[in-house]
Amino acid sequence: MIEQKQRRFLKGTSKNRREQQKCKGYCAQEPEHIFEYMRIPSTAARSSFDAQQVFRGALKPSLILMAAIWIVVVTAIALEAQPHHGHEMSAEKDPTERGSVADIEMGKSIYSMGCIHCHGSKGKGDGAASIFIGPYSHPRPNDFTASRFKFRSTESGSLPMLTDLIRTIREGIPGFMPSFRNLGDTAIRQVALYLRTAFIQRQLPTETTVKYVEHVGPYTYSVESVKRGALLYREMGCDACHGESGRGRQDTLYDDRGLLIMPMDLTRLEGFGNGTSHEDIYRTIMTGLDGTPMPSYSDAFRGKEENAWDLVHYILSLAR
Ligand code: HEC
Ligand code: HEC
Repeated sequence: MIEQKQRRFLKGTSKNRREQQKCKGYCAQEPEHIFEYMRIPSTAARSSFDAQQVFRGALKPSLILMAAIWIVVVTAIALEAQPHHGHEMSAEKDPTERGSVADIEMGKSIYSMGCIHCHGSKGKGDGAASIFIGPYSHPRPNDFTASRFKFRSTESGSLPMLTDLIRTIREGIPGFMPSFRNLGDTAIRQVALYLRTAFIQRQLPTETTVKYVEHVGPYTYSVESVKRGALLYREMGCDACHGESGRGRQDTLYDDRGLLIMPMDLTRLEGFGNGTSHEDIYRTIMTGLDGTPMPSYSDAFRGKEENAWDLVHYILSLAR
């Protein structure tokens, strides 16, 4: 029955006759192939009504479309209904800081594409590639569930601010983690929100505890300031770990995972993980790097924060 109609249709136009000659009876053996012709919107095709054709041509795609819309709507409702943040997150005041469900979902996909192979699916720093990064020495990819972060604007022992996570992801960590600047601000924020929601699972501080004194007037870079900084470097015992020349000493120090760690070579700014601007180095000195032997000096400088700039200038003067 169908074949009869197909033959009638193929006889229809001269174009179709040419096509039929080209395929020399092959078309008749292959009904699937012939259906391709039947979709040509000619009057002949439209008049030869056939239920199967209608289903294939128009009904089937529209059914698939309807099913797809239905699935999207139901998933959206289900996600919206989930109590996804736990009670600590809902205690946060600023709802934009919490990130929408869509932000977290996007963050999750970015994480599975860009971070999972190092940081692991549970955020424990045990991704497939992690063992090749720090088999015997510091650093290994961070374990986000341990809530211990090196690069913060908050005091030692606290969680970082969202902006700290964003900065680390944007800038990367020289030698160990690529910069994700190319993702753009929105995507970087989304993946940072995902880290917090999925792994850190606690509210992050929203204010810095680093007290910045204005970096102007007597606290600008000068030979005098560098000289004062050199004195501070010895007085405060930085040389005990970083050595007199700043190149580091061959001491056996360990991080809190028991991995061997070297004090940073201060003459090589390009290795600094926490950034190399005046403000970045000031922040490193004030907050310390949690999980490593590098302590916080915020107490030592309390009330005379301006002196810390001298130390920053001395460290920058070591680079060559
Ligand atoms: C090539 C491996 C690698 C990839 C890929 C990677 N990281 Fe990392 N990440 C590391 C390593 C190694 C460290 C620890 C570096 C250190 O302690 O100096 C780290 C540390 C971090 C830290 C903690 C910094 C701190 O304050 O202690 C954050 C946050 C982070 N990564 C986020 C991400 C995100 C988000 C992605 C994906 C967009 C990502 N990382 C992709 C290797 C990686
Ligand atoms: C107990 C040993 C110790 C002392 C004391 C110490 N540091 Fe460190 N410091 C370290 C270690 C270890 C690292 C490397 C951490 C790492 O690899 O992440 C480091 C890293 C640094 C960095 C690089 C941070 C970055 O961006 O990666 C700077 C800058 C620095 N120290 C400055 C100082 C100054 C200034 C002092 C004195 C006020 C000081 N340190 C005292 C152990 C020490």
